[in-house]
This record gives sequence, C-alpha cells and structure tokens, in this order.
Amino acid sequence: MCGIVGYVGKRNAADLLVKGLEKLEYRGYDSAGIAVINSNGKLEVQKVKGRLFNLEEKLKESPIKGNIGIGHTRWATHGAPSVLNSHPHINRTGTIAVVHNGIIENYIELREWLIEKGYKFITDTDTEVVPHLIDYYYEGDIVDASIKAVKKLQGSYALGIVSLNDPNKIVAVRKDCPLIVGLNKDENFIASDIPAVLNETRDVYFLEDNEFVVLSENGVEILDENKEKIEKEVYHVTWDADAAEKSGYDHFMLKEIHEQPKVTKDTMTSRIILGEDIKLDKINLTKEQIDKFNKVYIVACGTAYHAGIVGKYVIEKLARIPVEVDIASEFRYRNPIIDKNTLMIVVSQSGETADTLAAMRLAKNEGARVIAVTNVVGSTVSREADDVLYTWAGPEIAVASTKAYTTQLVAMYIIALYFAKNKGTLTDEEIEVIKKDMLELPEKEKEVLEHQDVIKKFAKDHFEETDMFYLGRGLDYAVAMEGSLKLKEISYIHSEAYAGGELKHGPIALIEFGTVVIAVATQPDLFEKMVSNIKEVKTRGAKVLAVALKGNENVEKTCDGAMYLPEVNPLLAPILAIIPLQLLSYYISIAKGCDVDKPRNLAKSVTVE
Ligand code: M6R
Repeated sequence: MCGIVGYVGKRNAADLLVKGLEKLEYRGYDSAGIAVINSNGKLEVQKVKGRLFNLEEKLKESPIKGNIGIGHTRWATHGAPSVLNSHPHINRTGTIAVVHNGIIENYIELREWLIEKGYKFITDTDTEVVPHLIDYYYEGDIVDASIKAVKKLQGSYALGIVSLNDPNKIVAVRKDCPLIVGLNKDENFIASDIPAVLNETRDVYFLEDNEFVVLSENGVEILDENKEKIEKEVYHVTWDADAAEKSGYDHFMLKEIHEQPKVTKDTMTSRIILGEDIKLDKINLTKEQIDKFNKVYIVACGTAYHAGIVGKYVIEKLARIPVEVDIASEFRYRNPIIDKNTLMIVVSQSGETADTLAAMRLAKNEGARVIAVTNVVGSTVSREADDVLYTWAGPEIAVASTKAYTTQLVAMYIIALYFAKNKGTLTDEEIEVIKKDMLELPEKEKEVLEHQDVIKKFAKDHFEETDMFYLGRGLDYAVAMEGSLKLKEISYIHSEAYAGGELKHGPIALIEFGTVVIAVATQPDLFEKMVSNIKEVKTRGAKVLAVALKGNENVEKTCDGAMYLPEVNPLLAPILAIIPLQLLSYYISIAKGCDVDKPRNLAKSVTVE
C-alpha cells in the first residue's frame, strides 16, 4: 500500500506534494513525509507520525522552499508507524532520498550485505536498503545507480528517487505496484494514482513493470533496464476531478453510497439495451469459445470476492457453467486445476491488489483466458488481462467499498446474460425480461436511499453492541457476507455472516439474549426458510432486523424491525439489499465516532501480499 508522489517544475514542490498526498491518503495514513531539494541546494526532509494534517502543520512552522521533491503517505508493513520509519528514507550522507510503495522481500539479505560494506541502518523498514544501494552504486549518474540498485531488489515496488548529485531529476520505477506520470507544461509529476495529479493535469503515462522514468521540468524520458528509450502513448483522463471530492456529503462513503443509482446506470449504458444483443465492450468471445469453457474461476479479495459469490450464483443459474469463487490469496497457493479451457474472471476495484494480480498471472501462465472486471482504467489488471469489462463507478475514495461493489454485481449480471445468450440456456424473451428488470434498478436504488429512517434508528439503538450476526440464504448469504464486512471495517464491531441453514450446525450457540441479528430475506423460494431461521434466533432472545421485499410485511411479526425494498427480480435483489446494510454500517460508525472513510489498520488498495 502507501501512496507516493513526486514533483519537478517551477512551483513550490512542498505545496504540490502535500496536495497530491491528500488524494492518496486512502492508500495509507499512519505517517507521511516529503523530501525537497531546497533553494539552497540542500536535501530537506520533513516526516511526521499520523495523518497528513500533522505534516501540513509541521510545514507551516518550518516551510521548505524548492522546486523538486518526493512525498509519501504510509501504511506500515515493516516497522511500526513512527517518524523514523516513515518515508522518505535517505542514504548515509543525506544526498539521496527515496519513497517506496511495496515490499522489498530480500531486504534482510541486502541489509546484511550493505552492513558488511559499512552502511548503518537506523529504521526497521525494508525500504532503507534502497537509498543505501543507490549510494553504493553511484558513480556519477543517478539513473545508472538506480537501475543497478533496482536489479538487486526482489519483491514489489514503486519508487521515487531524488538526489543532490542530479538535483533537477526525479527517477522512478515500478514493479507490481502502480505508478503514473503526470505531464504538464514546464512541470511533471509521479503518483501512485491519477487523483493525485488531476488538479494539475489530465495527461498521464501509465508505467509498466521494470520501466524507469526520468523527470525534469523540461520533459519525461521512459527507459528500460538497459537504458533503451521506450515510446508511450499519453492517456488523457476524461473523468471529472469533482468525482473525487465529497460534494457536500459528510463523508466519501456516504457520497459513494448515494452515487449507486448513477453508477449502476453508467455500468449498464451501451451494454444493456432492450431489443439489442448484450455488449461486452471490446471483448470478443464467440459461442464456440464459450462452449469450450469447462470451468470458470472468479478470483478476488474482500468486497470484490463477495461480488464474485453473486457472480457464481448468477452465471451458474443463467448460463449453466460451473463456477468456482476463490479468495485470490488462497487461489494462488493451492495449485488450482487450470488449462486452456478455463476462464478466469478477476474482480478488482483498484486493479492493483497484489494477490489478485498474482492469481491472474498464474492462471494466464497455465493457459487460461482472463477477463478483468475493474474500475480503474489503465490499472495493472486491466493491462495484463486478455479482456477488460470496466465498472463505471468513478473514483472510489472511501476505504470501505460500496459503489464499486454494486457495479461489480452489474458486471456479473452482464457476463452471465452474455454467456446465457451464447449457450442458449435462456430464450431471447427471458433475457429481455432480465434486461428490463436491470434497467429499472437505478430508480429502485433511489427509492431505497430515500427510506433510511428504520436503518438510522436501528443504528442509534445498537451502535454500542460488540457482536452482530448476518444471516441469509442463496444470494442473500452473499449479501450478508458483504454487509458483515462493511460493519467490521468501519465500526470495529465483531460480526459474522452465516448461511441460514448452517445456523443449527454451530453458530446458534452464540445467540443469547439481546444478540443482534440482521436477516436478509429477499429470495421468495427461500423466504419461509429464512423466517424459520429468524424464529430460531428470536426464541433464543436475539434482536432481529430483517431486510425483505415489499409485500412480505408479515416478516415483522417475527422480528424487531424491518426494512422493505421495492419489489424486484429476486436475481437482482443483492443490488438493492446491500444498500441498507451499507447505511447501517455507516450510521453505526458515525454514532461510535469512528473515522468512516479511513478506518484503522486498513488501506484502500492492498498492493502488498
Ligand atoms: O481493489 P480491490 O477490489 O482488488 O480490493 C479488494 C479488497 O481489498 C477490498 O474490496 C476491501 O475488502 C475493501 N476495503 C472492502 O470494503
């Protein structure tokens, strides 16, 4: 994780670095720092523990003036959050500064080697080996030294480097961690993500693994490890910078929850049109190819994994292709059976999650075809997959994923319908009905968002709980898992999700007087079974909030509160049912005084294993 930025130009670097870091704080926020080559030709470093505003305060007290520098916001992996462990890290003579996102896996070996050569280490980080290595290899050219140093590194990294010996250049490189270059007149930037540069420029380069970039105010050169020049196309960002602002909402999470009707619509636009075939953008999968798939793996982490579980239900139900859903970190190490008739669908909001990327590379090596469902144009997943289906959720800033999840569900439905059409498992009429139901979803989501009273009250009454349980069957079980994750992430309340039918096999032992249970019951064919589960926990003293479809008001007789969703095709109900659960977590988090958008110990994008 972590966010890195760099600036070279005519303006005051410190101001631009801090502005850039503000947009990257979602990647980590336990400490922050910058290194600037000041107007007296000295390398000045300022680092703080905690949030970025601490750095801003520090810089107000002791401003740094200079036109070139690098910055970092940290999510600690090696070494506790502290001023010493925060980045930038410097070499022994204080002439080279480095910011790093990723993990240097062989740092212990490198550290010992450097200690033998007389280098001293003062931090617990893996990163500190990098400035020392560059120092070791420096023979008059910072680019050469950086290339030599990087050749010694194993692991993942996006690095930004400045040196007093070449005071007008930033050198940067990436491997398995995101890095973009922002291009502007008389100034250039590096950043972990586009929002960090979007107030300054819309023209960017996406760097590939092992590409080095050398930036000065006059231009940008991209080089391979042999210093051969690489030509790259400029990507012009079309989305609005406002999309990454709170627009009047108290928190990004609340804003993003409310954006769901719009992004659901955006993700369907041009793909789901009544009377026309489903379109998968540029993905060219013929009927023959689809018929050959003997297995589909959906692989992802966290919320994206929960979207994958819905994907399994709908692809199997509509297209009758066997689907396995895997957590990426498990998939990559379990020697899965993959061949050229395997289709892998990787789901990743950021497109940079380390485990998801590794799982995808493994499947590609074994000959599988890979479709990426991702939200970030130009992300590593999008570049390496055979095909991409973008979710058009726009930038998602809150660490807890909401709108990205909804759009991932939409993508799953689109893929399932496309397969069903090609495999002939549904008639054209049946497909048209589901498409029509899908197109009605945005209005129904708006309706759900307009009725938050029950949820707000339940949150007010229960924010002091220490445990909560989520129950569901079928698609509702997938929703329960996602609802439970949301609660854990932002309110720190312990919660578990169970398939209703599993209750009697153990978990019911945990139910006692006052235990809170959220029962998701939107599936008509499983409704009565869910009602039985609700009764089972009620009998043992649980307090139950049900989420059900309108027309099932009877459920209230068996529980303590109910939130009703507009009538909807049950297959599509997860898109509506997740909204009250997102809101519940949000209001509980607020009532507890938690940091909703930046929950403790988490980062938005998990680019380390
Ligand atoms: O960017 P990705 O979709 O690959 O991220 C996967 C998970 O890290 C992510 O969904 C995480 O679980 C979120 N914090 C959930 O709210």
